[in-house]
Amino acid sequence: MSPASTVAVGRPARLEDDERTALLAARLNCSLGQQEACAFLLAYDAKGHLGLSDVSNSVQPLTVDFLEGKMGYRAAQQAGELVVKAVRSSGKPPPLVWDLTAGLGRDSFVMAGAGCRVVMFERSPVVAALLQDALVRLAAAPEADAQQVASRMQLHVADSCSLGDAFQLECERPDVCLLDPMFPPKTKKALVKKDMQVLQSLFQQGVANSATNTDDDAAKLFATAAAFARSKVVVKRPIKGDTLVPVPKPTHSLRGRSNRFDVYAAGPVLSKALSKRNGHDK
Ligand SMILES: C[S@@+](CC[C@H](N)C(=O)[O-])C[C@H]1O[C@@H](n2cnc3c(N)ncnc32)[C@H](O)[C@@H]1O
Repeated sequence: MSPASTVAVGRPARLEDDERTALLAARLNCSLGQQEACAFLLAYDAKGHLGLSDVSNSVQPLTVDFLEGKMGYRAAQQAGELVVKAVRSSGKPPPLVWDLTAGLGRDSFVMAGAGCRVVMFERSPVVAALLQDALVRLAAAPEADAQQVASRMQLHVADSCSLGDAFQLECERPDVCLLDPMFPPKTKKALVKKDMQVLQSLFQQGVANSATNTDDDAAKLFATAAAFARSKVVVKRPIKGDTLVPVPKPTHSLRGRSNRFDVYAAGPVLSKALSKRNGHDK
């Protein structure tokens, strides 16, 4: 199903957002203003923030904002964030991280706030539009430190598993690859937080991705991360979740209240897992 059939771009709350609304609809190949027939609606609100609503649900539109609210708070707490501990190596400068499953960019923002340069990849154009909107506002903020954080963040709308040779040649190889793929919840207990429900239902309807996540995707993502990362691969998992792939085992894990970061040091263990997967080591 193409995004165009279920996601529409709605009229903005402010006249001044008319032009970028039309550009967004053209970029996403979505109909403009025809919200009756769609399941999800992207629209600029009265503050000029892009929001995604589930038309069948009265939950507040999902927006990404790195300047105020929860993310602003999280940024202030960055020193204690587990993801920063997981990607950094003691005694070394903040790494270059490729976040291969950027989503709403929260982890990337926290890492950039802690001095890491972060290249983000997001395969859903709808999710990437929300993230791009927040990045533009962050870069335009009057505070110099907000602008600096924005300058360390770069977004590509792409499937991480299909990065072409040209792209790889052009880019500096990352020290760390971070993975946090979203898999459909298997039980009611695994239901996501309120602000992520719109996203979850978007993915469940299969409109945000060209493919639904599968175990095969997990293996491909892990192999991609292992092939690029010079220092380590870090995988974010639910605290009681299985490892993303059965082998190799993580070198170590960092545990928070609801999440865990599995860390895989680059080197012989990762190379062996990769060559096995590629069929060179039977
Ligand atoms: C759980 S969210 C990531 C949340 C993110 N860590 C954050 O802090 O906001 C997972 C995201 O990964 C994206 N994704 C999954 N597989 C991908 C792939 N192969 N390439 C690029 N993005 C992918 C999904 O579209 C989804 O937006």
